[in-house]
Amino acid sequence: MVYKLIDVDSSIGPVGAVVSGVDLSQPLSTECKEEIHRAWLENHVLFFHDQDLTPAQQADFAANFGALDVYPFMKAVDTHPNVIPIIKEADAKMNFGGDWHTDTSYQPLPPKATLLYALEVPETGGDTLFANATMAYESLSEAMRKTLEPLTGVFSPKMVHGSGGDYNSVAAKGNLGDAYGGSAEIAEQEVEHPIIRTHVETGRKSIYCSKPHTHRIKGWTRDESIPMFKFLTKHLTQEQYVTRFQWRKGSLAMWDNRCVFHNALNDYQGKRRHMHRVIVQGERPI
Ligand code: SIN
Repeated sequence: MVYKLIDVDSSIGPVGAVVSGVDLSQPLSTECKEEIHRAWLENHVLFFHDQDLTPAQQADFAANFGALDVYPFMKAVDTHPNVIPIIKEADAKMNFGGDWHTDTSYQPLPPKATLLYALEVPETGGDTLFANATMAYESLSEAMRKTLEPLTGVFSPKMVHGSGGDYNSVAAKGNLGDAYGGSAEIAEQEVEHPIIRTHVETGRKSIYCSKPHTHRIKGWTRDESIPMFKFLTKHLTQEQYVTRFQWRKGSLAMWDNRCVFHNALNDYQGKRRHMHRVIVQGERPI
């Protein structure tokens, strides 16, 4: 792929590319936006370093790629309704996003993009792993792909945010900070999406179900479904599909939730990590 305005280095791993030559705090030309969008579709995750972004500048950059979305389970920062603080304090034990998932796939219209910006990161630890769910899907046997393709998943936030969910204990709420909230009704809702998703812009298929967000395969019991979710997660998180991203203060990652899984490593006990997160509205998965 040829880029005239940005540099795109995809040698970082099986998914993602480091983009340089652009200041995200400034308005971008149509050509520059088009190149970033093209690089994003091709690489699934883009990483930018050495950025200096206010919440409004991060949101403005995100808005180049679609309408901004609202995350239902956390309060935004005071200065912008679409920017969520993701903070793990030094004395907290649990982190946010510390399991393989794509963002809020339990919503009727899950966000297509997430843009995470690092304000404070530990000197070591706190990396995020990204897995290429398209490559992983395409490497399954034809028989397995044929088995999976017609299946519908019943997705729900209840395993994470519901009354018995991981984030709903007093301890987790304390660890995640006062900003944690969310409606009990939304936390128990169920929606149906295909477990293999077709990307509307590239036409490629990806694994889409995950143990934290997919309650069961439609028509199967949860006990019957879990081994399939475990198998698919084990398959897609093999080394050959995973890139490990080491954050610096001022890094921004922009990932495509339609074809990438991620997992925030929780290996920095006693250190503080502070990020700002913005999501961009997506379409109903097909
Ligand atoms: C997330 O899952 O959105 C957070 C990822 C991270 O903090 O690295």
